[in-house]
Amino acid sequence: MSVAHYMDTMDYAPAPEGSGEAKAWLATHAAGFGHFINGAWVGAGRAESFSSNDPSTGKRLARIAQGSQADVDAAVAAARAAQGPWAAAGGAVRARHLYALARMVQRHARLLAVVESMDNGKPIRETRDIDVPLVARHFYHHAGWAQVQATEFADQRPVGVVGQIIPWNFPLLMLAWKIAPALALGNTVVLKPAEYTPLSALLFAELAAAAGLPAGVLNIVTGDGTTGALLVDHPGVDKLAFTGSTEVGRLIRERTAGSGKALTLELGGKSPFIVFDDADLDAAVEGVVDAIWFNQGQVCCAGSRLLVQEGVAERFIGKLKRRMAALRVGAPLDKAIDMGAIVAPEQLARIRALVATAAAEGGTVYQAPGAEAACPGEGCFYPPTLITGVQPGATVVREEIFGPVLVTGSFRTPDEAVMLANNSRYGLSASVWSENIGLALDIAPKLVAGVVWVNATNLFDAAVGFGGTRESGFGREGGREGCYEYLKPIAWDERPLRSAPVATPAAPAAPAANVFAMPPIDRTAKLFIGGKQARPDGNHALPQFAADGHPAGEVGAGNRKDIRNAVAAARGAEGWTKATSHNRAQVLYYLGENLSARADEFARRIGTLTGATPEQARAEVDASIARLFTAAAWADKYEGRVHQPPLRGVALALPEALGVVGVVCPPEAPLLAFVSLVAPLIALGNRVVVVPSGPAALVATDLYQVLETSDVPAGVVNIVTGDALTLARTLAEHDDVDGLWAFGSAELSTLAEKLSVGNLKRTLVDHGRAIDWFDDRAAAGPLLLRHAVQVKNVWIPYGE
Ligand code: NAI
Repeated sequence: MSVAHYMDTMDYAPAPEGSGEAKAWLATHAAGFGHFINGAWVGAGRAESFSSNDPSTGKRLARIAQGSQADVDAAVAAARAAQGPWAAAGGAVRARHLYALARMVQRHARLLAVVESMDNGKPIRETRDIDVPLVARHFYHHAGWAQVQATEFADQRPVGVVGQIIPWNFPLLMLAWKIAPALALGNTVVLKPAEYTPLSALLFAELAAAAGLPAGVLNIVTGDGTTGALLVDHPGVDKLAFTGSTEVGRLIRERTAGSGKALTLELGGKSPFIVFDDADLDAAVEGVVDAIWFNQGQVCCAGSRLLVQEGVAERFIGKLKRRMAALRVGAPLDKAIDMGAIVAPEQLARIRALVATAAAEGGTVYQAPGAEAACPGEGCFYPPTLITGVQPGATVVREEIFGPVLVTGSFRTPDEAVMLANNSRYGLSASVWSENIGLALDIAPKLVAGVVWVNATNLFDAAVGFGGTRESGFGREGGREGCYEYLKPIAWDERPLRSAPVATPAAPAAPAANVFAMPPIDRTAKLFIGGKQARPDGNHALPQFAADGHPAGEVGAGNRKDIRNAVAAARGAEGWTKATSHNRAQVLYYLGENLSARADEFARRIGTLTGATPEQARAEVDASIARLFTAAAWADKYEGRVHQPPLRGVALALPEALGVVGVVCPPEAPLLAFVSLVAPLIALGNRVVVVPSGPAALVATDLYQVLETSDVPAGVVNIVTGDALTLARTLAEHDDVDGLWAFGSAELSTLAEKLSVGNLKRTLVDHGRAIDWFDDRAAAGPLLLRHAVQVKNVWIPYGE
């Protein structure tokens, strides 16, 4: 070829990255890789093994051990033995280790990048310039958190032994996202890489050992989903962190329910990429390339749903098609290609099948002319693909394709853009393009997503939390909020398990089910729904007894329908979430004031129902008033942060209310527990449906008048009395409930976690531990506030 030819065609020759060092490394493991357990290699060359292949050729790269129960047992035991000394070593020591890992990654960056591209199929340009530098950055950043842990997280301790299961799309980066915070904060780890891409994790284990990481602190067990399930079920694991499909995430939520294991899930997405008519269209086209053709579209936060404003839609699609014609698909180690190979034949088949549904559902499938033919002949390749003309309900609009396939639609107004963008069961990320800063920043808060990029896409940094909402999972990775996912509050952890359910007053001669027909003269406290007192749907009442056994009154026996009505009322009270924190603080102060005006009455009621002495009862009322004042204080102080990542722009980390939260109160401290749970939730803009303490529900029904006279808008606090387990079940199963806090028993914790799996709502439970509601460390301030919100990170251009 002549220079003139290259100038004419702008074509260029392959520029392969050398793979000699990687091949030499693989050759040292020609007999097969084992697991990395307690600082040693175990199980290499066993019959139970599988291949890890190069997706660009289909050829085997290595034999990998399939982790058995004995392997997982050994890894968890090693992690357990190492955890105490690792935590006790102190943050400064752990910081040195993380720093050593960061340096090790930088020193072996080229080898790591090549191994990653060979095993996964992604372009070397990406592994070299994005994955590996971000991995090093993650260890540096978390070395810092280890260094300052003692002061910054003084009220927390490590969770313990952490099981981590990661996917194949960013094998090394996901390993770093998982292990850096876990190790920094004093936990030890058993990590299972994805079966398609275990090699970079195994190489990392070798580097970690060489860097002097103590044995047992990091253990790597390879295998497929069955090995993953062994880790999920292992009783020696204190926390699970999972990234992968929503399907497996759900399974893990169900299997860990009630086990006491902490859980974070980073699942799928179908993220919108919104282009307004005043956007810089050429920049937005480059954005699309990054959004959906980065890593062959195998990205959980890929901008896979393009929404373009009608006036520019045709022009934009035209530009995009021209750009598609210039994208090159080829060998992953070729430095000049834009897209590499799809990770495995199964994934390629899945992409093809989903694209076929688009055609069947009336869509038009576009690939640049000759694109398919230009893909390498062997291996798993699929060209950049654009689907137009599909309805919002089409399979390819709803389902995650996890491949280089973009689905497009158009909108007329900003409101319609928001409506279409949010019309998804996922809520991971969104990208907004407009030159009008007012418009872009008006849209960002309205998008249901954990991450929003303004005039950018797919930006990541260790200091900026990442994670989603809805069926994209819960929890955050990175940043301060990510650290909390590997810590637990000392004040809760110190508390003993409830040996038996808290004693309820003996019920003299009550009918077996304690359920009476409504008496003709209505003396029964009703429910409180939508700002009004409402008769329970079933028209039944439950007796309440004084501590001495005498009847003390009746409360309504709420049922599923009452909960549904209460949830609808809470949904409707959206104005509370949009209200200013100053407004919310005022209402909480007012609540405190009105409660204090009736303090004697509440103290008497508590004394009668619980048998507390007048002093104890008064102390509970006073503590409840203080809690309201504390929540009011925090309402306008629990604020976001501004991150300044080493990229152009800043990221606003903004705490957002969960939405509608169900609260099931424990039997003890009927007023104080109620207030301690509800006040932080409403302070930060949530609307609640509360099931008060069963034995002393009359304390909560006495609150109706306080709520009515305190300017709490209708629907913000709804109260449904009745059987806690029955009502908790309805709350947990309700798809319009975004979070569920359930306190009182291990049984309730299990039920809340298990049944929340439908919409993957956030749960906060006590796992049967009796919280000391009088202890400010355990029941006031940031500890609960943190659970009342989720952080949304909005990346905006700023500076040069
Ligand atoms: P997957 O969710 O099955 O695999 C992810 C990890 O979970 C792997 O390490 C796997 O071995 C493990 N795993 C599988 N079953 C398990 C079980 N029962 N218990 C514990 N661990 C288990 O994802 P897969 O099948 O590789 O990909 C299927 C689809 O999932 C993709 O097409 C994509 O839509 C989605 N996905 C999403 C990812 C994300 O980052 N959000 C990453 C990978 C896949």
